Amino acid sequence: MADRSVTFTGIRFENPFLLSSAPPTESESNITRAFEAGWGGVVTKTIGLHPVVNVYGAKAKFMRTTPDDANVSMKKRPGAALHSSWNWELISDKTLEWWAPRIRRIKEAFPNKVLIASIMAGSGNDKELKHWQELAETAQGEGADGLELNFSCPHMDRRDMGSNIGKDQGLCSVVTEAVKEVAKVPVWCKLTPATADIVVEAAACFRGGADAIVSSNTFPSIPLIDPETLEFEINVDGLVSSGGLGGPAILPLALAKMASLTKAFPDKSFSGIGGVSDFNQAASYFLLGCGTVQVCTAAMLDQAVGPNVIKRLLAGLDKFLDEHAKDGWKNVEDFRGIRRDRIVLQSEIRRPEAAEYHSGYETVEGYAAPQPEETVRV
Ligand SMILES: Cc1cc2nc3c(=O)[nH]c(=O)nc-3n(C[C@H](O)[C@H](O)[C@H](O)COP(=O)(O)O)c2cc1C
Repeated sequence: MADRSVTFTGIRFENPFLLSSAPPTESESNITRAFEAGWGGVVTKTIGLHPVVNVYGAKAKFMRTTPDDANVSMKKRPGAALHSSWNWELISDKTLEWWAPRIRRIKEAFPNKVLIASIMAGSGNDKELKHWQELAETAQGEGADGLELNFSCPHMDRRDMGSNIGKDQGLCSVVTEAVKEVAKVPVWCKLTPATADIVVEAAACFRGGADAIVSSNTFPSIPLIDPETLEFEINVDGLVSSGGLGGPAILPLALAKMASLTKAFPDKSFSGIGGVSDFNQAASYFLLGCGTVQVCTAAMLDQAVGPNVIKRLLAGLDKFLDEHAKDGWKNVEDFRGIRRDRIVLQSEIRRPEAAEYHSGYETVEGYAAPQPEETVRV
């Protein structure tokens, strides 16, 4: 039988697939069901010190697209395929006191599964940094195997929270360092993809002592406006704010973020998220250098915790290892990162000689047939 296990930041996982911090991991019953279904680990819904109150109505919706007109809409239509999730959900609306005994009970019931506590506080002053430490110490004291620092929530109004930390390399370092001062377990930093160069913020986290970088959280986005009602497809009193896009639509975007990270820090640890529902997508993250892969949107749409998604991921990994047994691959480590070096500058990509440049007249999708007499090259 294939060896599915991985050791990531010193933690042993029976398989490299985790539910990411989101609704699938917001309760003890969900996490219990997830472990029973086969997930190797979970990252809890982000825990803060202060209760939050979410907006009226739906906190997340799903956009679907149709083959005939490529319309992207939250309206349910027959034959439409998933395009993305959109959410404006805040962190857990349960307190640390609510979470603490649950973390303990879950770990006692599933000692061989991995439970990572996602935490978030402010960062504006020493009191806020102490909040990070309090969250970290409580979670690890209750048995959490690791900590994921949420520097990535895209819709926090406070300037010293969520993705606003992930957009400020100074804060990334300071908060990571504060948590590392008290941490006895590995510390992962989950960065926002909404910066010019995520390598800068990752470097800052590593300077602060981070054991791994996690990417991507959702991408900043707004829902579409219904052309009939002229209302946003999700709104409260007609109003909407920027929220986060996840699911298939972000897969290539998240891969680009991850590729820049794993290329910049080939010896560091990375957990990949974004658009995974099947082993085919997870494989790209592993081949780029990730040691684990996390899933949210696909799991939400599969009985809330993804029992079929994890089945597919495990079956896909087994089949892949089986097919590559001839290459000597026995586990994820044997093929992790082997395609990282294929991403180069555009100027390093081979071009045809001038003579053969217009030799092919096959029509390429999206282009008209080339004009035979055209010789100007741009
Ligand atoms: C409804 C919803 C709530 C989320 N809440 C959190 C959260 O509390 N903390 C966090 O780090 N990420 C949160 N996320 C982001 C996911 O963990 C994940 O990074 C993102 O959805 C991309 O993965 P996907 O393409 O598999 O959905 C949330 C995502 C959704 C859709």
